[in-house]
Amino acid sequence: MTTTDKDQVRIFDTTLRDGEQSPGASMTLEEKLQIAEILDEMGVDIIEAGFPIASNGDFEAVCEIAKNSKNSVIAGLARAIHADIDRCGDAVRHAEKGRIHTFVSTSPIHLQYQMNKTQEQVLEIITDTVTRSRNLIDDVEWSAMDATRTPIDYLCQCVEAAIKAGATTINLPDTVGYATPDEYKKMFSDIIERVPNSDKAIFSVHCHDDLGLAVANSLAGVAGGARQVECTINGLGERAGNAALEEIVMSIRTRGDVLPYTCNIDPLFMTRASKLVSAASGFAVQYNKAIVGKNAFAHESGIHQDGMLKNAETYEIMRPEDVGVKATSLVMGKHSGRHAFKDKLKDLGYELGDNALQEAFRRFKDLADRKKHVYDEDIEALVENEIAIAGENTKVIALTVIAGTGGPQKAILTMDVNGKHETREATGDGPVDATFNAIKMICPHEAKLSLYQVHAVTEGTDAQAEVSVRLEANGRISTGKGADTDTLVASARAYVSAMNKLAQRQQGANPGALKAV
Ligand code: KIV
Ligand code: ZN
Repeated sequence: MTTTDKDQVRIFDTTLRDGEQSPGASMTLEEKLQIAEILDEMGVDIIEAGFPIASNGDFEAVCEIAKNSKNSVIAGLARAIHADIDRCGDAVRHAEKGRIHTFVSTSPIHLQYQMNKTQEQVLEIITDTVTRSRNLIDDVEWSAMDATRTPIDYLCQCVEAAIKAGATTINLPDTVGYATPDEYKKMFSDIIERVPNSDKAIFSVHCHDDLGLAVANSLAGVAGGARQVECTINGLGERAGNAALEEIVMSIRTRGDVLPYTCNIDPLFMTRASKLVSAASGFAVQYNKAIVGKNAFAHESGIHQDGMLKNAETYEIMRPEDVGVKATSLVMGKHSGRHAFKDKLKDLGYELGDNALQEAFRRFKDLADRKKHVYDEDIEALVENEIAIAGENTKVIALTVIAGTGGPQKAILTMDVNGKHETREATGDGPVDATFNAIKMICPHEAKLSLYQVHAVTEGTDAQAEVSVRLEANGRISTGKGADTDTLVASARAYVSAMNKLAQRQQGANPGALKAV
């Protein structure tokens, strides 16, 4: 089948907004900028960079992403409130191409219990808020929150009013993940047919995965006439998440015979984007996740392996290299020089500043001394760690742990706190507990540990452990990661990184001020 401009599907990524709304997934400004950069590079048409009225941090993130974007439209979210819309306009105006995305609920249950408004009042709100947005910027998206539980006649009136007031994109979300593909497709085809000015806007799908139907529903909405898909990397998002960008894009690319659409995404970036989002959010990607899971292209059974050796297409519908999966390669050993290391980093997509490069190289040498084979994944874990802790004023310097039967387990820890070395000794219920107790003695704080997760970066007993730690204090959440061949050192690094981020969030720019967390 041939495709035309009318078959172009715009990809609207909301990892930094709906994705960040998942409890525990909040990201730092630095992490958001890195994610936005890769989304921009991979060809995402619209990046929803945040919710500017939500906090000063969100506002700043949208402004910075807007200033740095090269190709993508930068959108910010705004409720149907003047202050939200004005704040959003202030943030996205820094972009070469900015968009205000404003929304209001339209379903009877939301109108009655959440808004306490009549249908007529909501229609007036739509006209008023879309008009206000259009007075600030030409590119305005309007969303009917809970569209899939809204009576179709009323939804038609809302859409018509929004387009009349100047909305250029109309988004009809399945906010609660309730729709089925047939229903969702019909909703779009009915609305597009019935609303007299529907040809003046692009229609958009936005699906949540509560019933595991987000991707199927999104593609059904496109079949019904939508030409924008709202999605997130790794399917991150409220509750069960949003439709996963990588699944939408690879479905379109792989099944062009029945999904005759095009999109601008270069899938080569997908694996990197997935790892970056997982590291920043602290949400591990499940092993069997489509496209970006560790096992997505692994063939274990004898029959499959036999077929693969004869012809990869026997069991593979996509090639791993098309989505940026690199064949695992033995990288380098302890004799590799700085130059080769720098080239390797470039090959893996990293460019570090001089100081970070020097520190990463020092840690690579250290790793190569301790680990027989150093793989690409090891280098990636090491560099991600280096990027995460760059600029932190509180660091783990040395750790000795006494563990084993007989207890109590003991940790002797030295940390650098704002340039001053401090050492403490602590006991605990096991070596991890003892290590974390030692950190708390050096940097007293009230934060609660809500997640502690370990996974091996590669295979073998000398593999690096990658540890994720999530901390919560005063309603704020932060996630830190650490990697090392020593699981306890990785745990200490992850804990300190999470603590630094929490301190940054609570006190602005002073990551060293942990004592007051
Ligand atoms: O799920 C939803 O309805 C949303 C809107 C704010 C677009 O995220
Ligand atoms: Zn949503």
